[in-house]
Amino acid sequence: MKKNRGMILIALALASFACAEVITTKEADFRSGPGTEGKQRGKLKAGDEFAQNDKSDERYNVQISDGGLRGVTKFENIPDDEDRLIKDMEAILQEKMSKDYPAGQTKRDAHPKSLACLQAEFIVEPDIPAELKVGIFEFPQTYPAWIRISSASGKIQSDKAKDLRGFAIKIMGVKGERFQRQNGEKATQDFILISYPIMPLGTVKLFHDAVYYSIEWSPLVFFSRLVVSGNFHIINELRKARQNQTSPLDIRYWSTTPYICGTDHVVKYSLVPTSHIKSALPLKLTDDYLTENMEKHLAVHEASFDFMIQVQKDPNRMPVEDAGVEWSEKESPFIKVASLRIPSQAFRTREREELAEDLSFSPAHSLIEHRPIGGINRARVEIYRYLSEFRHKQNNKQLMEPRK
Ligand code: HEM
Repeated sequence: MKKNRGMILIALALASFACAEVITTKEADFRSGPGTEGKQRGKLKAGDEFAQNDKSDERYNVQISDGGLRGVTKFENIPDDEDRLIKDMEAILQEKMSKDYPAGQTKRDAHPKSLACLQAEFIVEPDIPAELKVGIFEFPQTYPAWIRISSASGKIQSDKAKDLRGFAIKIMGVKGERFQRQNGEKATQDFILISYPIMPLGTVKLFHDAVYYSIEWSPLVFFSRLVVSGNFHIINELRKARQNQTSPLDIRYWSTTPYICGTDHVVKYSLVPTSHIKSALPLKLTDDYLTENMEKHLAVHEASFDFMIQVQKDPNRMPVEDAGVEWSEKESPFIKVASLRIPSQAFRTREREELAEDLSFSPAHSLIEHRPIGGINRARVEIYRYLSEFRHKQNNKQLMEPRK
């Protein structure tokens, strides 16, 4: 009995990790699994802008990839079936969103619960090592930003439930060459982080299988496959990642996936809390205690974080193609390149709630100097755009890019 409960708990843990949060419903009519042809995309087509990235770009030693869908940097290595797996995920997740939400009330498939939408300043440091002084980090400057803090679970649930938290930053007024030259946002730099150093489902294949087996069959099926394939450590990481934090303003976040910095460096990001005050865990947790603690904090004090960069030193020990591997901080310590200042503010308003729904964050909203790389990021570049378009269309809204 105890053992069964353990299995169920682990399955639930699986079902609520980061964006593998899709893992909740069973859709018996879907037949497009590993080894079969990907399900056709729905009517929406995330399109031409990716073709822009096919162009050979000598600075990045970009080669033309399979079918010419997008370029690949010299740091990346694309498995043959990646495009099929990505399209498959898009179709499964879109179908799931159609079933989960009535038109007009469609939420994000992952991270649907907004804990706060905050106004902030991103302040680039003056003293940054020369090799990292590129893109947004080239000059000391203060940028306006929006932050959306979220819970990862694919269903909106009480803050009492242990979970992973998301921290998405949208910096505005960013000038320079874009990673995507068409259709994407024109003057933003997004940094998207979670409250755990790795994405245990660190490859497109693993993430796809989590999505496919959990939705098509059940989380337990995916869990059993992990056990059988000797990947028990992934289950352990998924379990460890979920916590009851005191406040999202008190904890550290990581990008988990890699990005280019300039042309020659590969980096990951982290946000380290530096506020003068910390919240206490309430004696009795409430459904919205995380938002309530942030409200109390920001009613009186500002909050702050250091934005840090970790440089890849060794491509084997610090791989680009597996976000499930933590890069050793001993081998490459994080370096501060900016501060994030969140002024004291009242944020529990209808306008902010609406803004949180209307915004779209993506690793693709980026200067070319900070372009996202690695399998999980290649998947996200396509999937976020595709599903955000779908979400906005269902809600009869336009994709919007905030200017201030
Ligand atoms: C292939 C792997 C992944 C898939 C398929 C995926 C899928 C998604 C989707 C569909 C959304 C909602 C997009 C929207 O409607 O605007 C989302 C949001 C998010 N994802 Fe992922 N994700 C993946 C990997 C990751 C990783 C590695 C991280 C780690 C940083 C992450 C962090 C987040 C966060 C924080 C949000 C919320 C962003 C916001 O506030 O709008 N995801 N993800």
